Amino acid sequence: MNNKRMLTGDRPTGKLHIGHYFGSLQNRVKLQDEYETYILVADVQALTDNFNNPEKVKQNVKEIVMDNLAVGINPEKSTIYLQSMIPEVAELTVFYSNLVTVSRLQRNPTVKTEIAQKRELFGESVTYGFLGYPVNQAADITAFEASIVPVGEDQLPLIEQTREIVRKFNSIYGDTLIEPEAYLGENKRIKGLDGNEKMGKSLGNAIYLADSEDEISRKVMSAVTDPARIKKDDPGNPDICMVAYYHNLFSKSEIKNICEECKAGKRGCVACKKQLIKNILKELQPIQEKRRYYEQRPELVKEILMEGTKNARKITKQTMEKVKKAMKLDYFA
Ligand code: TRP
Ligand code: SF4
Repeated sequence: MNNKRMLTGDRPTGKLHIGHYFGSLQNRVKLQDEYETYILVADVQALTDNFNNPEKVKQNVKEIVMDNLAVGINPEKSTIYLQSMIPEVAELTVFYSNLVTVSRLQRNPTVKTEIAQKRELFGESVTYGFLGYPVNQAADITAFEASIVPVGEDQLPLIEQTREIVRKFNSIYGDTLIEPEAYLGENKRIKGLDGNEKMGKSLGNAIYLADSEDEISRKVMSAVTDPARIKKDDPGNPDICMVAYYHNLFSKSEIKNICEECKAGKRGCVACKKQLIKNILKELQPIQEKRRYYEQRPELVKEILMEGTKNARKITKQTMEKVKKAMKLDYFA
């Protein structure tokens, strides 16, 4: 075991879905054996676009913790913590805000897309807090001196922004911060049930890790298939079928056969969907079982988060000392 650190996390705005699972959860579970692992529940960041709905953020904190535990984050090995309980991260955010320009933030592709999607909330002018959340994310990562950040593809511009802030900090105040690297798994981004490039809660096209059998069946049954196929023996095109797309993820050993039969018109779409439902349920079964274990033990979930947060702060306090020293803010040291 080396002492390299990995950090990643999610905004608590909803339960996690299979896009998260393939896009980043599987990676973090795998990497926790190799790296000292920190998983943050980014409640402060969640408030940047949910400041008017604090109850939603609060409710979802425990969902996110349970989702992480359910997929296999081991609380004995990895530290799960709550962002708002780490004051050093808020302090670092203020310090770093001098190292980034407003126009650079406005040009951040992820921020740009999100602002466009949030017209209803922000109207013509975005808040200072939302525009600046990449600075806060840089604080999350650097506070732990994380060297690796397993994320989905949409997060790459945020990691790049963090790297720029680190380089700027180090060039002005001396070599202090660690420049992190993003880690992308093989499935960078998972499409939605409707064929949209992204699976997302706001898009209504997601299968959640905690979905019931009925919900999963209903969702898969309504997934977009090859529209040209009317009769069972019409030749199909799996390349434009979302059911085939998910078979790629959930039915690895059967996929070749599925595509061949589809193309040859030897496979009915209903049977094909039923097979997918069965395979999704099989994959999610152990995850849901574990989730239920924690759902029945809310005190344990709370304790894991509290304990994790306490341990996390030991690290961020050390980083803060280094940062303050570098910035000549160590008056009484
Ligand atoms: N931006 C991430 C999301 O939208 C959440 C997040 C906050 C994060 N801080 C982070 C991810 C630090 C990785 C590293 O889900
Ligand atoms: Fe899609 Fe399966 Fe129908 Fe082919 S048979 S179009 S892969 S659902």
